[in-house]
Amino acid sequence: MSKKTYYITTPIYYPSGKLHIGHSYTTVAADAMARYKRLQGYDVMFLTGTDEHGQKIQRVAAENGVTPQEYVDKIVDGIKSLWSLMKITHDKFIRTTDDEHVKAVQKIFKALYDKGDIYKSEYEGWYCTPCESFWTETQLQDGKCPDCGRPVEKTREESYFFRLSKYQDRLIKHLEENPDFIQPTSRRNEMINNFLKPGLEDLCVSRTSFNWGVPVTFDEKHVVYVWIDALSNYITALGYLSEDDSKFKKFWPADVHLVGKEIVRFHTIIWPAMLMALDLPLPKQVFGHGWLVLEGGKMSKSKGNVVDPVVLVEKYGVDAIRYFLLREVPFGADGVFSNEALINRINSDLANDLGNLVSRTGAMIQKYFNGVIPNERQPGDFDEDLKNLLSQTKAKTEELLDKLQFSSALAEIWKAVSRTNKYIDETMPWALAKDEANKPRLAQVLYNLAESIRIISILIQPFMPETPAKIWAQLSVPESQTSWESAGTWGVYKPSEPVKPGEIIFPRIDIKKELESLAAITETKKEEAPKNKAKEEEGTPSLIDIKDFAKLDLRAVKVLACEKVEKSDKLLKFRLQCGEEERQVVSGIAQYYSPEELVGKTLILIANLKPAKIRGIESQGMLLSAEDKETGKLSLLTVDGDIAPGAKVC
Ligand code: ME8
Ligand code: MG
Repeated sequence: MSKKTYYITTPIYYPSGKLHIGHSYTTVAADAMARYKRLQGYDVMFLTGTDEHGQKIQRVAAENGVTPQEYVDKIVDGIKSLWSLMKITHDKFIRTTDDEHVKAVQKIFKALYDKGDIYKSEYEGWYCTPCESFWTETQLQDGKCPDCGRPVEKTREESYFFRLSKYQDRLIKHLEENPDFIQPTSRRNEMINNFLKPGLEDLCVSRTSFNWGVPVTFDEKHVVYVWIDALSNYITALGYLSEDDSKFKKFWPADVHLVGKEIVRFHTIIWPAMLMALDLPLPKQVFGHGWLVLEGGKMSKSKGNVVDPVVLVEKYGVDAIRYFLLREVPFGADGVFSNEALINRINSDLANDLGNLVSRTGAMIQKYFNGVIPNERQPGDFDEDLKNLLSQTKAKTEELLDKLQFSSALAEIWKAVSRTNKYIDETMPWALAKDEANKPRLAQVLYNLAESIRIISILIQPFMPETPAKIWAQLSVPESQTSWESAGTWGVYKPSEPVKPGEIIFPRIDIKKELESLAAITETKKEEAPKNKAKEEEGTPSLIDIKDFAKLDLRAVKVLACEKVEKSDKLLKFRLQCGEEERQVVSGIAQYYSPEELVGKTLILIANLKPAKIRGIESQGMLLSAEDKETGKLSLLTVDGDIAPGAKVC
């Protein structure tokens, strides 16, 4: 009989900067599920990756003076090493710049076009670049993006549209008939009442104003809208529409897509409608989890209040961080991250409750029996109670994990830890050890402790990749007694060698000292932050120093020649006189000027911007223009009166 399959995904992350602890939260949760299902014997497919196209990435790359591909390559390397540090066991890491993915997205787009579900028209509305999402005038809140509150940009361009409206009734029906499709339920009601019931509009699914995306095969000046590109990853990663689609046949539909609450809308409206249009089954569930916030609000790179998972893992170990992320906050709700809460958890749950239990037990077996528990044992009070609770822990943990209730599942396992600690207090092994006649009872007590620890160590495996093996080494638990199944059976422990108590698995942390050292790290981060601030929070520029201004080499330049860039209705190519030098510059202003009217004019150039390739043409600098807030119209900056080309603007 073939094994049951389990397919779980994380969102694919934007490689627009370093990832923070919030991103690790989703990935660690997905990893715990993947490990759990593998332990249960499922054939698991766990997918994660990066969402590399779109206007946002193109912009950050330009700001950093590199090509988008160079930019993402570097960040993706960092993301991969973060996942290896966090002991993430994904089966595939997809990049939307992968050839296979690009080809499959092109086929999907064409299939929807051929079917009549994608058609050409013109888009006019607002666009939030950080969220890569379109908004209508009425959806804006105080003129800003309703999701992230940042400024939006007026967008008007020829676009392809997806007939989202056509699927409205089927979507409502699906959500109503499948109450588990969106979890937690509160998010389901939000989707139905706020988005589906008011009515869906067709969705703009291509862009022409930039080119960092998957080209539309039958209309090359268009690139596919980044969310259509990104959502498709869940099936292209399985080889959908490729030569080998065996994985697709085996794993689709997904068992669960884990996503943060702000992108539930994309996953429960746009994505299912795309799948309906492709005649494919829908994922069984979309789980929208909450945000990890800091006391000052959502963690965000622009606020400079991100918590770096690498620092935490290096300080406290991967198991402690993974435990904290999944234990502290019920999955689904928002939760506040604080260093103090982290250290308190490590000290109480890990160092005290679990760590002490293991080291005390090992030390007692060593001290009283030279590391080998004798076979002659005598049952007694409290044994049944301990055994009952510990034998039920596996089933209870599974029931909660199947509902992605990580925090409650851990609480259930820690009930077993506490019960076992209480058993030590009840039986008082040190008192038994005083009398030779009590040796059989003492042997039974220590056996029961070791057996309880064996069960606990098996059940923490989905959460903690390192600790279980350390425990097995100390208590000499043979591998054959560590199967997931065996955690439901009492009395399996039978060490083949003496126990070897060793290092403390979770050292206690001096909270005062540690908080000071963590605060020092955050302080330096805060000092670095303002540099990025102006970049990310467009519309609210911060004050700069004259030294910052002096970094710009602005020049008055004369237009020697100007022509349209082929196959683009946005771009003009300039030949400019800058002092003795000639420069070639590409600028996106073709909608507002004809090439002829510009020849002979004097314009303003940022002359020391790193050169960039735009549509394959090298642009050596950037021409300055001013943007009309209402219409988005661009007007080129020029100088008053005659000035020699190359003159410095100061
Ligand atoms: O949205 N707490 O990518 P992304 C918890 N590329 N989760 C957080 C968080 C926090 N503080 N900050 C971010 C995208 N996340 C798209 C996805 S999927 C086809 C495309 C979570 O890098 C966030 O909620 O902006 C989201 O689920 C994920 O990180 C990726 O965010
Ligand atoms: Mg986001």
